[in-house]
Amino acid sequence: MDSLKNIGLEMVRVTEAAAIAASRWVGSGDKIAADTAAVDAMRKRLDSLPIRAEIKIGEGKKDKSAGLFQGEFVGCGSELLYDIAVDPIEGTTPTAEGGPEALSVMAFSGHDTMFTTEAHYMLKLACGPRLAKAGLSLEFPLDYNLKLAADWLNKPLNQLTVCMLKRPRHDGFVDVARRLGVRLKLIQDCDVSAGIAACLPDSGIDIQYGVGGAPEAVITAAAIKCMGGFFQGQVWPNDCPDWSEPILGVEELVKGPCCFVGTGVTNGSMLKGVRWDQRSPITHSVFMRSTSGTVRFIESWHGN
Ligand code: FBP
Repeated sequence: MDSLKNIGLEMVRVTEAAAIAASRWVGSGDKIAADTAAVDAMRKRLDSLPIRAEIKIGEGKKDKSAGLFQGEFVGCGSELLYDIAVDPIEGTTPTAEGGPEALSVMAFSGHDTMFTTEAHYMLKLACGPRLAKAGLSLEFPLDYNLKLAADWLNKPLNQLTVCMLKRPRHDGFVDVARRLGVRLKLIQDCDVSAGIAACLPDSGIDIQYGVGGAPEAVITAAAIKCMGGFFQGQVWPNDCPDWSEPILGVEELVKGPCCFVGTGVTNGSMLKGVRWDQRSPITHSVFMRSTSGTVRFIESWHGN
């Protein structure tokens, strides 16, 4: 996996290409066209990388996506070296509507180390390094976790912020948080960004919680591993809880060293979206590596 250190910039080029392609469709109202453009650009760039990687987490079939599905191989190298999780656009709705936080993202790990699933959804619990050893767990009810987090951070519950997707399936969790007086940040989309935000010092988010895409859970776990945070996921079948599903920690989702790369499509709390200067795009990306814990932000000015 350390070999990926040397092709980190190549990987950034992949998400940059996907984000630039997607950016032409921002606000267009056409999710499918945006996704197809991003998938095509990502595939083309991936196939130029001198590696061989199996897609373990691909585009969600729930989104009727254009490709890069689980089980496909990418790269022009000969040896099968890596597992890869891709999401050419994490946030197709905000892309189509010109909303916030859409990203193009990928995660890499050694071959046969990445969790793979056909499930649509997982319950997720994410927090940053400050809460990593607090003992939070999906084994416990939400109210217990929130009290544990506030105690650990030595602050009152009304200074703790939990971020959730705004979905009817979260009504019960919202009630629990409000009853405790915990601050809620309800987001329309993009729980990968929210999970990462919980690891960033100034995001104002302490915990990300709730049910979102299962593929996004694996990608988030890779990013959180690089940042020294805490993440758990539990498959949430058929849109309702099954508490007997195993709780998967970071190590079960992405075993061993990994890296994460993302480029902003639209403006978000961590990354700026693609900006167009006359005819050439400017992109803002992040590249993280678990072995070193390095988090690099890269602004690229692309030629005409
Ligand atoms: P897409 O880009 O695939 O639309 O995903 C956006 C997203 O908001 C994810 O961040 C999240 O995990 C998932 O959708 C939630 O799914 P749903 O919209 O079905 O609740």
